[in-house]
Amino acid sequence: MRTPVIAGNWKMNKTVAEAVALASEIKEKVAGVENVKIIVCPVFTAVKSVADVLKGTNVKVGAQDMYWETSGAYTGEVSGEMLMEAGAEYVIIGHSERRQYFGETNETVNKKLKKALSIGLKPIVCIGETLADREAGTTEAVVGKQVKEGFVGLTAEEMKGTIIAYEPVWAIGTGKTATAEQAEAVHAFVRNLIAQLWDKETADAVIIQYGGSMKPENVASLLAQPDIDGGLIGGAALKADSFEKLVKF
Ligand code: PGA
Repeated sequence: MRTPVIAGNWKMNKTVAEAVALASEIKEKVAGVENVKIIVCPVFTAVKSVADVLKGTNVKVGAQDMYWETSGAYTGEVSGEMLMEAGAEYVIIGHSERRQYFGETNETVNKKLKKALSIGLKPIVCIGETLADREAGTTEAVVGKQVKEGFVGLTAEEMKGTIIAYEPVWAIGTGKTATAEQAEAVHAFVRNLIAQLWDKETADAVIIQYGGSMKPENVASLLAQPDIDGGLIGGAALKADSFEKLVKF
């Protein structure tokens, strides 16, 4: 009932020329795939060129961050409107690397999320616990707070239009994937929480991706879980071959 969403988060990788080449390769390899939504998220400077390459195809483009104002004296920031004009349909918000290194908080996530929704830019909001959280047994408390504070004020319709990416920080870029059972437990917790905070229909509709060292070898077992609806992929999304395998899980 929920269409899986496979999204590549290219992080700070690929020049414009390299991004265009990768997008062109991906476009060929996944042409005709209909049962999965496919998204690639290049760096800001490559959004327009990649969107031009992918125009009219089944591969959509996302940005990796945005600011919540439309324009103005915010040196270094890029607005959602600007990203949409460049061809982005999606935007990643609150990735753990932004939370860790760039001061992103649940509050800034909420501002960006509301802005994206208000202009029709589809958000992919990242949540997830650190290793210290997991070892302290506070995974549900941390993830629950990220959902409560990050999504506060959203209507049920807005929640349904928001993709959530559960990404345990200890699994990102480390090669250490959460087991399918570990991931499913948190996904189910998040879906139940959404049912409590909004309603069951909304919880049943919302896409919850897994992220953190997802690769061709583990994608099938993760996506076989009832509450895992796709993946947000870093490393394994940087090569057309492995990204194709993820899309065709
Ligand atoms: P990874 O990154 O697949 O390289 O672990 C995932 C992410 O950070 O979105």
